[in-house]
Amino acid sequence: QCPERVFSGIQPTGVPHLGNYVGAIRNWVRMQERYDSILLSIVDLHSITVQQNPAELRENIQVMAACLIACGINPDKTILFQQSSVKEHAELCWILGCLCSLPRLEHLPQWRDKSKKVSDPKVGLYTYPILQSADIMLYKSTLVPVGEDQLTHLELARDLARAFNRQYGTLFPACNSYIGDVPKIRSLKDPSSKMSKSDNNAASRIDLTDSSSTVRDKIAKAVTDAVSKDITFDPELRPGISNLIDICSALTGKSSEDIVKLTQDKGMDKKTFKEFVTETVNESIQPISSEMQQILSDRGHLRSILKQGQERASVLAEETIKQVKTLVGL
Ligand code: ADP
Ligand code: NA
Repeated sequence: QCPERVFSGIQPTGVPHLGNYVGAIRNWVRMQERYDSILLSIVDLHSITVQQNPAELRENIQVMAACLIACGINPDKTILFQQSSVKEHAELCWILGCLCSLPRLEHLPQWRDKSKKVSDPKVGLYTYPILQSADIMLYKSTLVPVGEDQLTHLELARDLARAFNRQYGTLFPACNSYIGDVPKIRSLKDPSSKMSKSDNNAASRIDLTDSSSTVRDKIAKAVTDAVSKDITFDPELRPGISNLIDICSALTGKSSEDIVKLTQDKGMDKKTFKEFVTETVNESIQPISSEMQQILSDRGHLRSILKQGQERASVLAEETIKQVKTLVGL
């Protein structure tokens, strides 16, 4: 067991897809075995940086909690909580905002990218990396397992920790980032891009709540190629087939070579290979979605889990904010 404090967050913006599962969620589940102190936040304050429907958001928070638990997050091991239920996130965000220069945010690639996609980008979208820094620093986190796209934001968190320590006195650790060796899953419709929630074509991704027959349909219609009748692994020349191999490999723990060998041993063609992929995916995700339905059928229990998470996170958050205020003179 390592003495690290681990923090990560996920936005409650709908049911996670297979890419989120093998690229992030499953990693958090595994980390529970290695680390004693893990916080996982359903970051609802981040999600309102773009417009949300209130009723949908409320439901999505519960859906995300249920999904994480169904995937193997154990609320006795991981402090699983709703970000907005711990008010210190917003409080620390304000204090850090007073230490952050405008140009520091202006150049962040996600702002440049996202602000172009929204018609009327808001201040919250601009400053949300500061909130992310607050999320991390509030728990004095040392390990932050996030995707590669978040690395510039982790750098901001380190900079703000340094700026705070310099101006007010040493309080925050220089946080370490962490990217596990995680597979990237690609879109089933356009294997040149990643599988993503923000893809308008739902057939491009497999959601963890897709039924067996929906999974079969989506995989049957997944883009492949006419390069060869055989199943071979070549991400450059055959991105579609290779993505399906990657999916099997991620879900079974077998190497891509082993998957290819298996298809040869069984004499699979593209059609029978797709049936094999369908079975592999369904074996992994159908138990998750039925567990999720089970959890969602007892909302009282689910709320009590989040309440317990809130209480445990608050103990840590209140302690940090007390120290921060004393140093700042508030
Ligand atoms: P999305 O693009 O679906 O909105 P997010 O940006 O919310 O995904 O990412 C949530 C987490 O899931 C991140 O840690 C990210 O690295 C991981 N992730 C997202 N898409 C994929 C993918 N296609 N393959 C592997 N991991 C992914
Ligand atoms: Na996203």
